Amino acid sequence: MNKIIIAIDGYSSCGKSTLAKHVAKALNYRFIDTGAMYRAVTLYMLNHQIDIYNTDAVMDALKNISVSFQINPENNTQETYLNNENVENELRTNSRIASIVSDVSANSVVRRFLVKQQQYMGIEKAIVMDGRDIGTVVFPTAELKLFITADPQIRAQRRFDELKEKGQTTTIEEVLANLKKRDHIDSTRADSPLKKADDAIEINNSNMTREEQFEFAMELVKKKLGTASE
Ligand code: DC
Repeated sequence: MNKIIIAIDGYSSCGKSTLAKHVAKALNYRFIDTGAMYRAVTLYMLNHQIDIYNTDAVMDALKNISVSFQINPENNTQETYLNNENVENELRTNSRIASIVSDVSANSVVRRFLVKQQQYMGIEKAIVMDGRDIGTVVFPTAELKLFITADPQIRAQRRFDELKEKGQTTTIEEVLANLKKRDHIDSTRADSPLKKADDAIEINNSNMTREEQFEFAMELVKKKLGTASE
């Protein structure tokens, strides 16, 4: 079977990582959540009180940052490590990260630092990577590009349910405001703004179950791999 690169981009809280993880598992490919990498860098900046708007300070801080992924053998899921410390849970529940990660990721110095690592991870293909600029900047020649969208209200509800399950106290309005703000910053920044690549296939999953979305994506994958059954 040919090995391909699958790039999955889209707005905040669209279920990109859930889909990417599922597709990667089905194909036995590597899965990389690039949002987690930007969140880990943001956590470092917060923990070390770095002025994220001072590019020299950010550049210095990056020299001390290593972001990696490791499989947790207990549940067989991939977890994110910042300088060898497991930060997986904190990355998605710390509201301070959610409120500044879009500003941190708008910085070109941070983008260059992480994009280089992401491209290196894809050298041998067989990878599913999700983010905002995967099909446009990280892997412009990816064999399959998906662009995921969903109604903001539905996305906010899904994210709210997820946070509630993790014991976080917040409101739907707060979650919706945060994701709209992030969408705006992500799609209007000068460097690598979030946009659909010309050759990406758009999936609006507002009225799709996770399973339906997975089946739809897998049909596209099979066509690319030349293993479709028709
Ligand atoms: O997917 P996420 O919500 O975890 O991403 C967090 C932030 O990181 C998001 O607001 C934009 C940024 N990001 C990015 O700029 N480029 C990527 N490839 C992935 C995420």
